[in-house]
Amino acid sequence: MENIRNFAIIAHIDHGKSTLADRLMENTGLIKKGGAEQYLDRMDIEREKGITIKAQTVRMPFKAEDGKNYILNLIDTPGHVDFSYEVSRALAACEGALLLVDATQGVEAQTLANAYLAIDQGLEIIPIINKVDLASARPDVIIEEIEEIVGVPAREAALSISAKTGIGTGEVLEAIVKRIPPPKADPDAPLSALIFDCWYDSYQGVIALFRVMQGRVSPGMKIKFMATGAVYEVARLGVFSPDAMDIKELSAGDVGFLAGAIREIRDVHVGDTITTAKDGATEQIPGFREIQPMVFAGLYPADNVEYSELRDAIEKLSLNDASLIFEPESSPALGFGFRCGFLGLLHMEIIQERLEREFKLSLIITAPTVVYKVKTTKGEVLEVHNPSALPDAQNIDHIEEPYIRAQIHTPAEYVGGILALCLEKRGIQKELHYYAGNRVILTFDLPLNEVLLDFFGKLKTISRGYASLDYEPLDYKISPLVRLNILINGDPVDALSMIVHRDMAYERGRDLALRIKRVIPRQMFEVDVQAAIGGRVIARETVKPMRKNVTAKCYGGDITRKRKLLEKQKEGKKRMKRLGRVDIPQEAFLAILSIKEE
Ligand code: GTP
Repeated sequence: MENIRNFAIIAHIDHGKSTLADRLMENTGLIKKGGAEQYLDRMDIEREKGITIKAQTVRMPFKAEDGKNYILNLIDTPGHVDFSYEVSRALAACEGALLLVDATQGVEAQTLANAYLAIDQGLEIIPIINKVDLASARPDVIIEEIEEIVGVPAREAALSISAKTGIGTGEVLEAIVKRIPPPKADPDAPLSALIFDCWYDSYQGVIALFRVMQGRVSPGMKIKFMATGAVYEVARLGVFSPDAMDIKELSAGDVGFLAGAIREIRDVHVGDTITTAKDGATEQIPGFREIQPMVFAGLYPADNVEYSELRDAIEKLSLNDASLIFEPESSPALGFGFRCGFLGLLHMEIIQERLEREFKLSLIITAPTVVYKVKTTKGEVLEVHNPSALPDAQNIDHIEEPYIRAQIHTPAEYVGGILALCLEKRGIQKELHYYAGNRVILTFDLPLNEVLLDFFGKLKTISRGYASLDYEPLDYKISPLVRLNILINGDPVDALSMIVHRDMAYERGRDLALRIKRVIPRQMFEVDVQAAIGGRVIARETVKPMRKNVTAKCYGGDITRKRKLLEKQKEGKKRMKRLGRVDIPQEAFLAILSIKEE
């Protein structure tokens, strides 16, 4: 155990975590130089978007300068604000963290948020300044920022590296061995292991990734999941190094995975403790903090017959993503589906994409909404997750909406524009601080509802990509809110309604009707799109009917061409939902997200 080091790399998005992980794996001989980049980003979506979504682990054998052989367990973590939950889970399995800061960008919102998570858990922190190969690198200023903003000593402690070229990365390994303490645990006590990730494999059943806090585990052993009481036999035990590798035993301080032909998904969940079936540990390891989903949206199969496949897929995915919550719901417009809770918009997008790719489903997702608290005139308090569930105006006493406290990090020159944006979004300014190196940290209380719409995109545009945002839920405040309904050919479509601030309702309504009109394809007849508040129509747009049959231009001659055209049309229809006689594409449901983009 003296020779084990468990550590994570924490950083703001794009500061180079995955690249550094690649170099560390090369330096320890785990992977060859010049192989695929971002080795740990295994999911296709991760590679395409260039971001880490899931924490990954890898075990690296390392012979240090002191001549001893060490086992370094690296737990890679995501950097986006939506996934800070993954970070806190990963950190629970570590004794130390590398705090990676981009030498050109400096300390940003998630650098700080993640550093605080690590400090809270009492981890040893090694500050590392990355990308020193770039001409615009300012390591001295960054050191000052780390000390002043994060509050971690950096002048002597910080390492300067280039994860891309490999400069200084050898010293990182030595620093891990020298500065991060080995795990303190008793290998002879009863088994107690903390599950920090799990997923479903169609051959091996549920696979759990865990950190052994005390005791030992080996194949053939009968184990128990303490929260659910389920008992299984360990069929396979292993570590990622970097590919899955079987192992005979894991003991206190180790990180690894196990499989046990577990077909019942509900038996295992992240944060639970594994112990032995007999004479096991009596106390559960304190799990992770409960997470609150911030936004809700309806997920529906584009084709109603796929409902049970969707249920199956969501269950499997929620195993791998403990932050996804869901319950069945039905909509007159969309049929049967699920109302799901997400950590943020990126999380929602990722879930939709994973469901579609990993489970080959075609989905319609409705506009995301926050949770409103509604006090009725009868004195009841309702939690409304879906605009269509909002009671009629005459039955409402008042509505409260959730606020967040946002911290925005930006170079000083963009402060004016950002202040204007926050005020436009009904924000309340709390603090404004100037730091070394021309940095400003702004604190604002904002209605989450407004942040969902297009806040992040605008913040990035105003600051040319330099500002970063981190937020936490704050409280609920009373606001004058109304429901905006969309009617298609006179019929209200529940899945297109939204809740807006009264002062913005007219403008939003007009804009939304226009946007929906633009995305609805022409049909054989005229389609009317109306926006209404209560019974009052405030905007109307019309989709003109199609003039000709699409296949008419084939002159009836070439049947293969005609078929191709019809096929193509069918493809285009896939992500559409037929409401009455009108085909509505997925974009219409998300039209409110891009309100006033141009
Ligand atoms: P997430 O996984 O999204 O949180 O990002 P990450 O922190 O893992 O960043 P990643 O390793 O994907 O690096 C982001 C970008 O920075 C990539 O284009 C890298 O090639 C580049 N990069 C990383 N390290 C260096 C470096 O030392 N020098 C230079 N010039 N570029 C680097």
